[in-house]
Amino acid sequence: MFPENEFPLNEGLIYLNHAAVGVWPWRTAEAVKTFAEENMRQGATAYPDWMKTESELRGRLQRLVNAGSADDIALVKNTSEGLSLVAYGLDWRSGDNIVSTNQEFPSNRIVWESLKPQGVDLRPADIAVDDPEAAIMALCNANTRLLTVSSVQFSSGLRLDIERLGTFCRQKNIIFCLDAIQSLGALCFDAEACHADVVVADGHKWILGPEGLAVLFTRDELRHQLKLNQYGWHMVERLGDFDRRDWQQTKSARRFEPGSPNMLGIHALNASLSLLEDVGMQEVQRRVLDRTRVFMDIILETSGCELLTPHEPGRFGGIVNFCFKGVSHAGHEHMYRQLMQQKVICAFRGGGIRFSPHFYITDEHLEEAFRIAVRLSNTVS
Ligand SMILES: Cc1ncc(COP(=O)(O)O)c(C=O)c1O
Repeated sequence: MFPENEFPLNEGLIYLNHAAVGVWPWRTAEAVKTFAEENMRQGATAYPDWMKTESELRGRLQRLVNAGSADDIALVKNTSEGLSLVAYGLDWRSGDNIVSTNQEFPSNRIVWESLKPQGVDLRPADIAVDDPEAAIMALCNANTRLLTVSSVQFSSGLRLDIERLGTFCRQKNIIFCLDAIQSLGALCFDAEACHADVVVADGHKWILGPEGLAVLFTRDELRHQLKLNQYGWHMVERLGDFDRRDWQQTKSARRFEPGSPNMLGIHALNASLSLLEDVGMQEVQRRVLDRTRVFMDIILETSGCELLTPHEPGRFGGIVNFCFKGVSHAGHEHMYRQLMQQKVICAFRGGGIRFSPHFYITDEHLEEAFRIAVRLSNTVS
């Protein structure tokens, strides 16, 4: 079933929107159908098997982020929840600051801004510069407790050198937090190599899973500093011992999961990750980067078209954002709507048209979508 038959998209649909919400592979849809059927026929009779699937998923997520242990992996609702668990778990002191960038998706901005009443200052670095990491590091000082960035920016597509930032944080004793939603499932990732203390990503973009189930990686040392704000039967050391009155929070990241797990999402996400593992993340990354590189070259050779995504090696992932000279903001928005009508599924971000093709999209489809965009650009102003 790999890979074409895994993506039986509707005839004529060109799906270039994995940076927003990805497509479910065939096997994910099958897993959900089977799980639904099973629930209808026999309820939770096979709960022990479901727990095996849950444990399998934790293992796959551990490999995806290259965590030291599956105990570092928590299953949370979404990126925002994962970041909130960290933001409201740390013991802030008035005068502390958090360094970030001025290109973050609201999930990785609002939660930190919400700490302002506690005297915590968010410092966003302007990263539309030649050396974005230097701009970020320059904002850190003795009061910086945490540095938080997206590994790949949702709008510009800029990919940061997270090893460089992580090494800096480790040297300065700053907590390094990554919103990896635009990397995981598209690019190889190594939480160990980049010295990440926190990695969060929902599964519904490049990982090709459903919305509402995210991975939260926390490094062991950091995890024990985070105070909990949610409690329940599922986050205790002796899970399932319901007669016991005394309890302790478990040492593993399961402490961030207070109650019943999202079993439907677990079955779906596990299936999606099994596809990425079958293909291999090295191969997925190779295809994603080859595709975006070739596509960006086409944009650069097209007169009147402007590339908004950096194209230097190492500076991009799967996101390509572009616009047309002489076409207004409203004109681009109109073009985006027309593209959607013509079954080119994409996004309008930062004033440009954002294409985010995954590994299974063909060059022909991508070029066809771009031809449609160029044609439309001649009809708007
Ligand atoms: C960089 C980034 N972070 C987070 C999110 C989504 O956050 P959540 O998983 O909380 O919905 C997006 C969605 O577009 C994103 O691009």
